[in-house]
Amino acid sequence: MAFLRTYPVQDINSLGKEMGDERVSRELFIRTAVALGLGVAGGSVLAGCSNGTTAGRPVTGGSEATSGPRVAPREAIAAASSVETNSAVSYTNAETGQAEVLVRLADGRFVAYSAVCTHQGCPVAYKPDTRKLVCPCHGGTFDPAKGAEVVAGPPPRPLPAVEIEERNRKVFRS
Ligand code: FES
Repeated sequence: MAFLRTYPVQDINSLGKEMGDERVSRELFIRTAVALGLGVAGGSVLAGCSNGTTAGRPVTGGSEATSGPRVAPREAIAAASSVETNSAVSYTNAETGQAEVLVRLADGRFVAYSAVCTHQGCPVAYKPDTRKLVCPCHGGTFDPAKGAEVVAGPPPRPLPAVEIEERNRKVFRS
């Protein structure tokens, strides 16, 4: 096991000369326990990575799911003029605590979606170069101009749409 450190016999003998035998035994016990503990912890981390979510963190709820300012229903997400075409604003749904994303499409229209990937819950992000919402975990790709339909990767369904409305030169959650 890569995490288990071994100690040469001469190290143990030299410790024995500096300390009593009882103390050496206790120290060896502690060192072994620490090494085994790290090995188990390391194995758990590696096992966690083996499900393919190494590139991004799954969103599981609570604070991990938040992104940007909290926005309640009928509150403004952003001033329309502050969001350039082909860009996005991340925010947090104040009711659910989940990340959502407001996208201003290349044609100037606004759309908003849940930013939680429908595959295994990683947070998606808008990529202006491809004009898509992309999940870092397994490459799930959604087209915000087409109802966030899945255009690549394993997600089983589109991102849920969020109702918004424009008024007074601002974009609001409905
Ligand atoms: S969590 Fe797998 S593609 Fe998003």
